Amino acid sequence: MSMASLLRIIPSPLILLLISITISASESHPMQGICSVECDTELTSSSGKILIKQGTVVNAHHKVLADVYIEDGIIVSVRPNIAVGDDVKVIDATGKYVMPGGIDPHTHLEMDFMGTGTIDDFYTGQAAALAGGTTMHIDFVIPINGNLSAGFASYVHKAKKSVMDYGFHMAITKWDEAVSKEMELMVKENGINSFKFFMAYKGALMINDELLLHGLEKCKSLGALAMVHAENGDAVAEGQKRIFDLGITGPEGHALSRPPVLEGEATARAIRLASFINAPLYVVHVMSIDAMEEIAKARKSGQRVIGEPVVSGLTLDESGLWDSDFTTAAKYVMSPPIRRTGHDKALQDALATGILQLVGTDHCTFNSTQKAFGYGDFRKIPNGVNGIEERMHLVWETMVESGKISVTDYVRITSTECAKIFNIYPRKGAILEGSDADIIVLNPNASFRISAISHHSRSDTNVYEGKTGKGKVEVTISGGRVVWEEGNLKITSGSGKYIKMPPFSYLFDGIDKADAAYLASLRSPVHRTGAAY
Ligand SMILES: *[C@@H]1O[C@H](CO)[C@@H](O)[C@H](O)[C@H]1NC(C)=O
Ligand SMILES: *[C@@H]1O[C@H](CO)[C@@H](O)[C@H](O)[C@H]1NC(C)=O
Ligand SMILES: *[C@@H]1O[C@H](CO)[C@@H](O)[C@H](O)[C@H]1NC(C)=O
Ligand SMILES: [Zn+2]
Repeated sequence: MSMASLLRIIPSPLILLLISITISASESHPMQGICSVECDTELTSSSGKILIKQGTVVNAHHKVLADVYIEDGIIVSVRPNIAVGDDVKVIDATGKYVMPGGIDPHTHLEMDFMGTGTIDDFYTGQAAALAGGTTMHIDFVIPINGNLSAGFASYVHKAKKSVMDYGFHMAITKWDEAVSKEMELMVKENGINSFKFFMAYKGALMINDELLLHGLEKCKSLGALAMVHAENGDAVAEGQKRIFDLGITGPEGHALSRPPVLEGEATARAIRLASFINAPLYVVHVMSIDAMEEIAKARKSGQRVIGEPVVSGLTLDESGLWDSDFTTAAKYVMSPPIRRTGHDKALQDALATGILQLVGTDHCTFNSTQKAFGYGDFRKIPNGVNGIEERMHLVWETMVESGKISVTDYVRITSTECAKIFNIYPRKGAILEGSDADIIVLNPNASFRISAISHHSRSDTNVYEGKTGKGKVEVTISGGRVVWEEGNLKITSGSGKYIKMPPFSYLFDGIDKADAAYLASLRSPVHRTGAAY
């Protein structure tokens, strides 16, 4: 029996028990600054009554000075001057922001890729997330030889060591009747409401237009959101050969071989095909002005397209790929590539004005040993950068501290919009009575500094090495437990829950009406008279 079907038939206290038993035998993960729950039961007493006092409580729709009272993992009350007894842990948030924990819509923990596997698993990746104020992420299940159920089972297994809540998207890498049937199963039984199509990675994950069209139609009928990695994979393969044949073998060849025009082309193609099917579309990791402009144009014309920039695209430029030290240069390799300076600022502005809607990371981390597989051939450098721990701080610094957006918009782009798109709002993405107690306290006067020496990822490098800024997540509460405080993590392997995401989010409202209007507009078939034959 699958974990998912187990979860449906067992009452929830039993599930927790079951999971903790399954996990207790698992290896311990000695990591810097992490104390397993056994060594301090006082703070983490999970019956958890917590009062967060005197903070500015920020939701996407409103901010207000109030207290937040939490019991058993749920927000019970949000109002000024809540009085409590001695058995309640009190957190003073005077002068600080109390916000929904971040939700990262785009991660790859423990993924097999390019002959190796990402270095952060569901324990270390989520530990890093919590230390940076992210309390939920949505990871991409990769089918096994095109088999969705097998891929799902493998990710259920990988996620057993979870320390925070998570959901799944699923990649579609081939097409036949079995895949189509299994998509239905994933949506109706397994809590998946989004499928990703790779227009790049020729010979591995890449799909062609025919498959994309089938996929869009199937997604639409299931109320599931189609997501695309938009780069022209055929042209990328040509570009790689061309650059390599010029004798350019180092990491800079990565950027040169897949320029923005290829991202713009694929983004435009995906958008037009989605328009042809009349299905909503989600473009992951928008890295260039070229792609962003296509999204802007489509949205202006009324099409339902969501654009997700990632932290690397918003805050870095490609110059690192030209660094003379291979290890340094290789850590910037991800796809689509980090672009020339100018693209970053344009993406920030598009995010500030609502052309792009939410921020992900594409956390897909490889250490320097793994990156070195591509020494002498940039095509073999595993693609991916970190970000799950850094996202909340860097977005705060880049967007709020810089004066580009309000604090309420910060909550929207880091948490609420993601919860709405993936249909789990207001359980997630809000500080409201009845919402899950996934909360951060951010001190706008404290500062952060990013380094591989102090981060919680298992990687020995950090693509944001040395970045500093104002605004620090001082407390993270996950599922009603204080898991990050005073620079210490207190986490329990197996405490994270799988969050099922139902289909037909708001993006599907009215699609049927538009389809009916389209059919009515055809004035066909025409009933003709007078043919002589
Ligand atoms: C941060 O600084 C502002 C302005 O000086 C002040 O009003 C606020 O109380 C400070 N917050 C904290 C937590 O120190
Ligand atoms: C996919 O994998 C599942 C579980 O591993 C198996 O039961 C099923 O038969 C497979 N489907 C196909 C089409 O091979
Ligand atoms: C990178 O990870 C691999 C696999 O876990 C490990 O063997 C290697 O020592 C790591 N390299 C560094 C520099 O940490
Ligand atoms: Zn990705």
